Amino acid sequence: MSILDVKILQDYIRMCNDGWLQGWHERNGGNLTYRMKAEEVEACKPFFKEPGPWVNMGVTGENLAGEYFLTTGSGKFFRNVILDPEHSIGIVEINEKGDSWRIVWGLEGGAKPTSEFPSHFMNHSVRVKATDGACRVIYHAHPANIIAMTYVLPLTAKAFSRALWQAATECPVVFPAGVGVVEWMVPGGAEIAMATSEQMKKYDAAVWAHHGLFCSGPDFDITFGLMHTIEKAAEIHNLVMATSGGNVRQTITDDNLRAIARDFGVTINEEFLD
Ligand code: 13P
Ligand code: ZN
Repeated sequence: MSILDVKILQDYIRMCNDGWLQGWHERNGGNLTYRMKAEEVEACKPFFKEPGPWVNMGVTGENLAGEYFLTTGSGKFFRNVILDPEHSIGIVEINEKGDSWRIVWGLEGGAKPTSEFPSHFMNHSVRVKATDGACRVIYHAHPANIIAMTYVLPLTAKAFSRALWQAATECPVVFPAGVGVVEWMVPGGAEIAMATSEQMKKYDAAVWAHHGLFCSGPDFDITFGLMHTIEKAAEIHNLVMATSGGNVRQTITDDNLRAIARDFGVTINEEFLD
């Protein structure tokens, strides 16, 4: 028996590989964190090592004190996670103040959690609050079409939410609140973490201009599915713009969007409808 026989590790590794297969993780692009359940921590504990030193994150999430997270390593390639999990991913424990982590498994050879750990951590903190504890997954990827859209649309939640909803009929059902947008910022620190978590108070996904997308959810299926749905809608949007030269003949109307929401029993964000 090894820690790699524990189901949550297998599911996490599968999600990393699925993202790689989609083409969303060039080189070390993207990162994935998962807030472990108590029984999953117990199943993994026999394989923990002597913990490393506490490392301050520059952000605080008091509601995450004492939690354990699976995380990808900084500079590690999603492509390699399935081949070499011990060096590519790890488990970190959060201290009692909710402002520092220490490594308890994996990230071998001096590796560290993703440079976006502060953003993941603050997103977990606000999504845990917003979902009454249901949110467990934060996923950052570099899908090409949603990034391309950030060069042509206004960088507002309204512009992106409407364009994506109109690109595919299922979109308003999958993300009825819409998506947030964060203007271009230097990645990897506390400032972008705070700006992203502000958006994540209202939305379960946030676009990073000229960089990528953050998605959240209660499990790997829902979170991967959200990334996939948004990127597919972005691809359709870009195909329509490229083939039509911007002269769109017809689209899903605001009343159509309201009708979908009504029949599927979701509350669409009326702020973005005319
Ligand atoms: P890491 O390799 O530190 O996870 O960074 C990749 C990335 O996508 C930065 O935004
Ligand atoms: Zn990135």
